[in-house]
Amino acid sequence: MTRSDARPIRASAPGKIIILGEHFVVHDSLAISAAINKRASVLVWPSADEKSIVSYKGTRSYLTKDDHKFVAVKSVARKAMKDFEANERVHIEIESELPPGSGLGSSAAVSVATAAAMLEFFGVKANQENVLKLASPGEAAVHGNASGIDIATSYSGGAILFNRTKGFEPIQTTKQVQFLVVFSNTERNTSELIQKVSSVRDSYPSTFGTLVQSISRFCELGVEAIQKHDLPLLGSLMNLSQTALDWIGVSNSSIEKLIEKINSAGPCYGVKITGAGGGGSVIALPGESSSQKTASTLSQEYRHTFLTDLSQEGLKIDD
Ligand code: PMV
Repeated sequence: MTRSDARPIRASAPGKIIILGEHFVVHDSLAISAAINKRASVLVWPSADEKSIVSYKGTRSYLTKDDHKFVAVKSVARKAMKDFEANERVHIEIESELPPGSGLGSSAAVSVATAAAMLEFFGVKANQENVLKLASPGEAAVHGNASGIDIATSYSGGAILFNRTKGFEPIQTTKQVQFLVVFSNTERNTSELIQKVSSVRDSYPSTFGTLVQSISRFCELGVEAIQKHDLPLLGSLMNLSQTALDWIGVSNSSIEKLIEKINSAGPCYGVKITGAGGGGSVIALPGESSSQKTASTLSQEYRHTFLTDLSQEGLKIDD
């Protein structure tokens, strides 16, 4: 098949926050996550170059080159080229509003967008099954033993209740819930943190197993809290899960300091790590009347500070 006459395809997908259940979800607990109002997009078009290219903000790398650049995008695109037995060259250009290594699902967003754009480029209609299947190697390349929650959230948009063996379902909301998101300015490696948590599980299997069950129960209560707009309950569940995240060793002094700053900037129902921890980002459930003020106070010190709600769009393919 030749695609030299193919039209460029643009696909975009959002980053995510994990509201409850990160890390425990790798060990089969439930988790609640939501898409955020920051996205990544990829544009794919036939390349006139001698080799396929990936580019981002003026940096270019050949698709076949193992130079540790654009690892997620390359893993997905190489799989697509192999699956479609493609002989032609493509140019894949990335754009992103998501800081990498921030726990906000940057690699999942580019993996989902790349998977959808490559499928459509090769004439296959993108759907949940084929996008998530093709996006998985991108997640795995960056996260190792990933649960799949990041790509599922990025694909679906909105808020979801997720389990790695049972899949996911959307959480319907009647009234919006607004979250404050703050990137601690410290990048970290999700794969290393997942390994660290697995060794905690191996050392304390019984306590860890109890926590997995408790987190699942918190998620069931969290769904009810979101649906009933019970912010004090949702905030308490977030605080309890932060204690569990601290116990498994993914919090640290810079995260604790950031949590303190958020709590002293204005009234908050709950504050916790979102994602793998070890740095990365923190989410808070601010009091409804104080959210703007808390966000503007934090943004003076933390560049990536923003408010988002549970209504954000998932994968989008431009016509
Ligand atoms: O994408 P991150 O770094 O926010 O972490 C994803 C959440 C984990 O539970 C730590 C890993 C996973 O795949 O579920």
